[in-house]
Amino acid sequence: MGDNGTCGNKPPWIELFLHVRSSFARFSGQPVPDECLRRVLELARLVPTESYFQPWRWILIRSHAGKRVVESATQVGAPLSSAPVVLICLADTGAWKTAPQQVQELVAKKTLSAQSGQEILRRIREQYASSPELTQRAALAHAFIAVHQILIAAANCDLSAYWVSAFDEQKIKAHFHIPDHFLVAALIGIGYAEKTVSPLPELPLQSHIYEETFGEAYESRDRD
Ligand SMILES: Cc1cc2nc3c(=O)[nH]c(=O)nc-3n(C[C@H](O)[C@H](O)[C@H](O)COP(=O)(O)O)c2cc1C
Repeated sequence: MGDNGTCGNKPPWIELFLHVRSSFARFSGQPVPDECLRRVLELARLVPTESYFQPWRWILIRSHAGKRVVESATQVGAPLSSAPVVLICLADTGAWKTAPQQVQELVAKKTLSAQSGQEILRRIREQYASSPELTQRAALAHAFIAVHQILIAAANCDLSAYWVSAFDEQKIKAHFHIPDHFLVAALIGIGYAEKTVSPLPELPLQSHIYEETFGEAYESRDRD
């Protein structure tokens, strides 16, 4: 919302989201400058996180051999080996166990009050110790936001990023020595698109959004 209560008209960042959606079938051979890659990775640290979990971890693959392994674990439209950089995004299902340490450090530094720290620790134990399902859901939710942040950050550097979620997880875990308590959340190819095509049109808003209960049509309350 703008200051005057309007939603604004085409703010500059909309261009980023349009670039995020650009479709392409292949990366060009142009390398990704280190400075751009660093910037993209830096921005991915800024995503919101519950109780200091920060469960995302990245494996950066630049070697041809590594990219070939990743590619062989997928069936992807844009071949990942054509990307100068491939990121493996991991979600740590054990992050809730290490978060207390970070909370205690923040309390010690007085960034967080002792009372807030206690409250966060109590909630973490109560919610996560007894529910592996919730633990996985939270770890993946964090990882997916981080992946999307990578897509936006890449678009900001005029790079294209290709998100892949269909892959042989065990093959990737075994080859890259990934510990059991991590899930492979996504693979992302990053580089310059060889040629982009117009993305498919989005579905109309009404087909995605229900009001009050499942299936009930959403109506905008704005009057013309
Ligand atoms: C969450 C997510 C998962 C995806 N998984 C795959 C995948 O496993 N294989 C693939 O070829 N493309 C996958 N894609 C599609 C590409 O990353 C890319 O977004 C798409 O080709 C761009 O075209 P579009 O925006 O017109 O759909 C995925 C996209 C998203 C957002």
